[in-house]
Amino acid sequence: MNKKLLLLPGDGIGPEIIAEVRKIIAWINENAELNIATEEDYFGGAAIDAYGVPLRDETLDVARKSDAILMGAVGGPKWDNVAYDIRPEAGLLKIRKQLDLFANLRPAIVFDALIDASSLKPEIVKGLDILIVRELTGGVYFGEPRGIEDLGGGERRGVNTQVYTTSEIRRVGKVAFEIARKRKGKVTSCEKANVMESGKLWREEITRLHGESYSDVTLEHMYADNAAMQLCRRPSQFDVIVTDNLFGDILSDEAAMLTGSLGMLPSAALGAPGSPGLYEPVHGSAPDIAGQGIANPLATILSFAMLLKYSLESVELGEKIEAAVQTVLAEGLRTADIMVDGCTKVSTIEMGDAVIKALAS
Ligand code: NAI
Ligand code: MG
Repeated sequence: MNKKLLLLPGDGIGPEIIAEVRKIIAWINENAELNIATEEDYFGGAAIDAYGVPLRDETLDVARKSDAILMGAVGGPKWDNVAYDIRPEAGLLKIRKQLDLFANLRPAIVFDALIDASSLKPEIVKGLDILIVRELTGGVYFGEPRGIEDLGGGERRGVNTQVYTTSEIRRVGKVAFEIARKRKGKVTSCEKANVMESGKLWREEITRLHGESYSDVTLEHMYADNAAMQLCRRPSQFDVIVTDNLFGDILSDEAAMLTGSLGMLPSAALGAPGSPGLYEPVHGSAPDIAGQGIANPLATILSFAMLLKYSLESVELGEKIEAAVQTVLAEGLRTADIMVDGCTKVSTIEMGDAVIKALAS
């Protein structure tokens, strides 16, 4: 099977962590049936320096023709004072919008070896593996009307509008159900159907979609505030959570804290079936440690594992990489950010090498 991948290392530690994935790709091309051809370009601050814009149209064209895109991270103090529309982040917003990436996937996985990093008791988070599917392009962050109105006499009114259409709900619902089929087969849909019209529609449409095409998946509805509570109380009850933009923003940050380590969290943004997905670590470009060879490459390696599973039809290979990450952690290897007493401190490159060694064995 031949696939095309666009690599966008970006800024700060981006190039260092993407370099470790490049080694894994070389290993796959040599040892697996899958053949991945890569292209690469500047993105974010690096693209501003090279081309004057954070994302050039040529890059976007290559992205559209690829099966998936893997990003490092963008941004840094060097570009903090440039005009807003040519800031590194503008490149990120542009690629998300241009590829219509409406579903944000944020897994929260607790690795046994890192269980002490969690903010919850070990018995509550042990073996935790949940995935939040957040609607990313609709809802209250984009709804009209919006703005701040002057009501006179010093009184003002801030307005945002929560809006969802049937098709917006259904397309993100499909993503959640499809992924649940590849996991433990359960979807929890979260809204506030008790007090919000958009929530009521959300619940109706998810229920209808489930009945039409996904009755093999277990569907449960939960009010978003209860979900926030249940995530702390008994997170292992969840498999896939599907929710809107606002609730997903909050619930995914809460779920991230269950795992406790920023350097370990992957993410994905998906569009319509057949269109390329964008994968990236949750963390930023970490300018404070860039160029020192100490960044943790595992969030990016795990993002690449998601990419294999969800965009390159290679679920088994993706799981193999996840298992290899478990192995290196169990062996006690740690980059500085997750280092604890009794473990062995390794560099970015040594961590990447260890993952490949675990893959090969
Ligand atoms: P950050 O995630 O880059 O760093 C926060 C802290 O975590 C730092 O101390 C950093 O050294 C550490 N850290 C992050 N990733 C790490 C890794 N893989 N290994 C070891 N340590 C790691 O967030 P911060 O400092 O708020 O932002 C830095 C820059 O990154 C800013 O320009 C920001 O705009 C950008 N950023 C970009 C994102 C993206 O590209 N999607 C997301 C978040 C921030
Ligand atoms: Mg957030």
